[in-house]
Amino acid sequence: MVAGAGNYRCGQGLAAERIKARHMAIERTLSIIKPDATRRNLTGKINAKFEEAGLRIVAQKRIFLSLAQAQKFYEVHKDRPFFGELTEFMASEPVVVQVLEGEGAIAKNREVMGATNPANADDGTIRKEFALSVGENSVHGSDAPETAAEEIAYFFSGLELVG
Ligand code: RTP
Ligand code: MG
Repeated sequence: MVAGAGNYRCGQGLAAERIKARHMAIERTLSIIKPDATRRNLTGKINAKFEEAGLRIVAQKRIFLSLAQAQKFYEVHKDRPFFGELTEFMASEPVVVQVLEGEGAIAKNREVMGATNPANADDGTIRKEFALSVGENSVHGSDAPETAAEEIAYFFSGLELVG
């Protein structure tokens, strides 16, 4: 009886651990559908790729970034040779900013996006199918939990995230 009760408690503990582990693996990441893609009416096709991969779009809006806003967003690249080209491109036409949620969402999104340069992207990825060049590569995705949190907060308030 005592052993049985112990096993029961142990079983409960394991179940709680598993639930916690599952819960902890749910992430949110910031995605941007870039101007080359919004211009070509690819928002729906790109969103379908995310949803087919099990990513839930928990926030989304279409905005027109100012140059200053694009520069702030890509500040980490300010010393790279492509900074001017990149920020002018991001501020050239509307973008769709969105928050994707799911298990391992940060890595999963980058998998669905494909390599930065579409020439190196795997078949079936967004960049392989839709990107025009290494610069006009259709989508942005956060690269780590810290940057995901910062980038989500840059565009969305808590009330706008509806899981
Ligand atoms: P992103 O930040 O947009 O999700 O892309 P990423 O991580 O795959 O690539 P990253 O190295 O962070 O570069 C940011 C964006 O800058 C443009 N880029 N242009 N002309 C070039 O050689 C060049 N290299 C990068 C791309 O738009 C890239 O997505
Ligand atoms: Mg990046």
